[in-house]
Amino acid sequence: MAKKSVWSDNRFWQRSAAWITGFASVLLIWLTFDTMAQITIGTDSDLKNGVTKRVPGPTVINYKITYEMSSKRGHEVPIIGGNDGQGMSLFQEKEKFFGRDDWSEEEATELLHLGKLGSQVKNCMNCHTLLGNGAYYAPDLTKAWLDPQWGPDGSMQAMTGKNTKEEAMAEFLQNPSKYPTHSRMMPNLGITAEEAKGLVAFLKHMSSIDTNGFPRNFGKIEGAVHGK
Ligand code: HEC
Repeated sequence: MAKKSVWSDNRFWQRSAAWITGFASVLLIWLTFDTMAQITIGTDSDLKNGVTKRVPGPTVINYKITYEMSSKRGHEVPIIGGNDGQGMSLFQEKEKFFGRDDWSEEEATELLHLGKLGSQVKNCMNCHTLLGNGAYYAPDLTKAWLDPQWGPDGSMQAMTGKNTKEEAMAEFLQNPSKYPTHSRMMPNLGITAEEAKGLVAFLKHMSSIDTNGFPRNFGKIEGAVHGK
């Protein structure tokens, strides 16, 4: 029998397919476990012990969150509770959230849960983008909390007549059509004061998530780097 070329050998292709399937399965299982570890939410004790988590625990709302360039990673990263000067969080500087910086893990979790449900019920994603999901009709909300327009020198805080970021955002969310800024206006969605509080907690927590610099250039465009 004449020797066949390996390329026309059925056994060769069967074995290759089996090896590639096996390798891809192992890779996918490994990636699944790696992703689970990366996206698992942290705890209050992580924050208290200075453990950096990609998704910090709900009590991150008790801390000051800023956005700083990390020269090591080549993009901006959320900084929680002060910067060590090298783009790493110190987890020390607190910031009052609706008058308190001692929200317990239980209270913060509940508030965040209310905000998450609110964002789904009112379908913010229908117009906005959250963590890469949603629409581009209205501004990306992934880092909205870090947008200086809500800060002490920001136009939104001034327009709402409030003294803090969270109160200004909550006021806007309850009465967006009272504070139109762009040509596109956010409609009134019938958001209650309690829901607004939850939504702002949800936005503050989301801004603390390390998204590898996504949305790209947010810090540069909005001037959020070294923000207040
Ligand atoms: C029907 C579309 C629509 C829906 C639904 C919607 N928004 Fe908006 N939103 C807008 C538009 C348009 C703007 C820009 C308004 C402006 O700047 O005057 C805006 C602006 C905002 C801002 C200020 C933007 C910034 O950069 O800080 C926040 C915060 C916000 N929306 C939060 C929410 C939340 C939370 C929800 C869900 C509960 C929501 N929006 C649902 C259309 C929408």
